[in-house]
Amino acid sequence: MLFPAEPFKIKVVEPIRKTTREERDRLIRQAGYNVFNLPAESIYIDLLTDSGTSAMSDNQWAGLMLGDESYAGSRNYYHFEQTVREIFGFRHVIPTHQGRMAENLLFSVAVKPGDYVPNNIHFDTTRANVEHKGGIAVDLVIDEGRDPYVEHPFKGNIDVQKLERFIEEVGPERVPLAMLTVTNNSGGGQPVSMENVRQTKRLLERYGIPLIIDACRFAENCYFIKEREPGYERKTVAEIARELFGYADGCTMSAKKDGLVNIGGFLALNNEEWAEKATQLLILVEGFPTYGGLAGRDLEAMARGLREVLDEDYLRFRIGQVRYLGQLLLEAGIPIVRPVGGHAVYIDAKAFLPHIPQAQFPGQALVVALYREYGIRAVEIGSLMFARRDPKTGQTIYPELELVRLAIPRRVYTTMHMNYVAESIIDLYRRRDQVRGLRIVYEAPVLRHFTARLEEVG
Ligand code: F0G
Repeated sequence: MLFPAEPFKIKVVEPIRKTTREERDRLIRQAGYNVFNLPAESIYIDLLTDSGTSAMSDNQWAGLMLGDESYAGSRNYYHFEQTVREIFGFRHVIPTHQGRMAENLLFSVAVKPGDYVPNNIHFDTTRANVEHKGGIAVDLVIDEGRDPYVEHPFKGNIDVQKLERFIEEVGPERVPLAMLTVTNNSGGGQPVSMENVRQTKRLLERYGIPLIIDACRFAENCYFIKEREPGYERKTVAEIARELFGYADGCTMSAKKDGLVNIGGFLALNNEEWAEKATQLLILVEGFPTYGGLAGRDLEAMARGLREVLDEDYLRFRIGQVRYLGQLLLEAGIPIVRPVGGHAVYIDAKAFLPHIPQAQFPGQALVVALYREYGIRAVEIGSLMFARRDPKTGQTIYPELELVRLAIPRRVYTTMHMNYVAESIIDLYRRRDQVRGLRIVYEAPVLRHFTARLEEVG
């Protein structure tokens, strides 16, 4: 099965080099078996993240030259504001340098200590920003969304009944807003259905609770709605997006994903009071409201990227490319999260390396092997990232899943690169019993996966 061929041709190329196994063996030891410590130039295919790694189009690069770097009132801001209003429909548009700043501003104005913020599943920075304001981030995805193998077209849906029970339990006055992350990154890049957004909105409206969308991968989510949800086959992705955001009161956006830019984001809101307070804070921490931590040229690239991402030939290719990689792995019997999500393929490392106990980081062991043997960089989403020590018993609490994410940058790699990745993983699977577990030799007290150092066991 071949996905639709690339709907672009390549005008500029960036060389990548395949290092030798000896070089990579040395580098990964020096890096303390942590791929965040590697020089990126030593990587052949980099699937660490799809964030900020997109290739911009000639149209976006041309837009950079039209950057108006006026401190206030840059024409690029007006273009950006108008674009966001047209696509998302919200009244107030606040530019930020990336997604987590939009989250920070939103929770700074909306969340008080002891408040609850429900979501399908919060992304790490979203959760961290809620907690930073003394709030409690709650994940209420449907049960199917936690099972890596059950097939469901919209595994990113929130459980509306659970949400209702939750609001009743804690009281609506303790829930200043609720969120939906589209697509649900922490749950495998799975989409949320329009029906689910509608039902969520209907429920929240009864309690007067605003709905805010984490819109990072909104175009990919809307493309899945077009593909999978009855009644949307003939709508354009732009129309679907307009309907989806029409049920919401605002959104946070990391344009480093579906904005097709290397830096940028925004907070968009209908609530006048929240927008005003967020703007005051923006001036304090990011910059004047017409640039928000970005250059004029960045705003122009973002305005253009937000339109390009709605192109359906692009989206067919994009979703198709990720699915193609997943399909190659599935056909070879590799355990991956199903169905394949929008931006990444997630390998079940527990099933891939059953001989490595969770205490020895099977996900990270797989990440290390992919780099050392093939020059591929992936990221662990398992015990290295999430295992916690129980403060009472001192025992380690392990996460349910040990996943390895292969995030595909947008418009960056070709079909042949996907074949290379698939063949490498299939090759490793054949000799997986040679992969060894790891132990930590250094860890920071918070977000340890970024800086931890490890060594091989045995
Ligand atoms: N929300 C979601 C769903 C995300 O995936 C991310 C970033 C953010 C918010 C924060 O945006 O990085 O611009 O501040 N995800 C990246 C990733 C880092 O690799 O998945 P940011």
